[in-house]
Amino acid sequence: MELQGRAAIVTGGGSGIGAECARTLAAQGMKVAVMDVNMEGARAVAQECGGTAIECDVTSSDSAEAAVAAAREANGIAQLLINCAGIGTPGRIVGRDGPLPLEAYEAVIKVNLIGTFNMIRLVAADMQEAEPMEDDERGLIINTASVAAYEGQIGQAAYASSKGGIVALNIVAARELARSGIRVNTISPGLIDTPMMAGLPQEARESLAQQPEFPKRLGTPKDYAKLVLQLCDNVLINGEVIRLDGALRMAAR
Ligand SMILES: NC(=O)c1ccc[n+]([C@@H]2O[C@H](COP(=O)([O-])OP(=O)(O)OC[C@H]3O[C@@H](n4cnc5c(N)ncnc54)[C@H](O)[C@@H]3O)[C@@H](O)[C@H]2O)c1
Repeated sequence: MELQGRAAIVTGGGSGIGAECARTLAAQGMKVAVMDVNMEGARAVAQECGGTAIECDVTSSDSAEAAVAAAREANGIAQLLINCAGIGTPGRIVGRDGPLPLEAYEAVIKVNLIGTFNMIRLVAADMQEAEPMEDDERGLIINTASVAAYEGQIGQAAYASSKGGIVALNIVAARELARSGIRVNTISPGLIDTPMMAGLPQEARESLAQQPEFPKRLGTPKDYAKLVLQLCDNVLINGEVIRLDGALRMAAR
């Protein structure tokens, strides 16, 4: 799909992987709506890349609906949606202080899984009205899961459940939206060096960097953004979940 001049929405665009996607897409000539609950981050990224910062809580139907409408108003119908908003609050099923509070589990499912679904349903409803491109393609949706969908570690019950849900949702969305010429793919990153990771002590970061089989380094948001461009470019990649992890297989802890 030709990106120049088309509109894109990036959730979680105010930080880390989403921010890099916004910059990369803007550099390709896309009109990017940078959506986040963190408006300070969203504004900074939008300013840097000439995008539009829009407040959006992906867990809320009203907030997301208003944000998608604002993006359409500013840039036209989005033909690319990148779902990057996510949280990773850890917690054991039964920890030192007893069972994990149900609200803690729900909070992660709400942002990562329900938030992804919320954006897919709203953006796809618009996207199906877009002018078809080559191959009658109208748009592309890219979700962000995690290798935790497959090898969730101790303390990742909520996070792994939410990401496993995104993996399961992928093929259903691809099948349902196919008739409108909308592709759906999901990227499952391994260890990516973002603000999430920057909080760890240097020793822990170095040890994590040794875990992938090859290359022996942390992934970067640029590695992710590169895959986004590759997915945009190849119309035959649809309904796919792609691990981006250097053959990393996480251990139990
Ligand atoms: N960094 C990694 O190693 C890694 C690995 C696998 C998967 N991922 C996934 O990649 C995605 C991006 O992660 P990141 O490392 O860039 O994290 P990050 O914390 O740098 O960015 C996440 C962004 O999502 C936003 N956000 C949180 N809740 C939101 C909500 N309700 N509505 C809208 N925005 C919200 C945050 O404000 C933040 O700007 C997440 O889904 C994460 O689970 C990250």
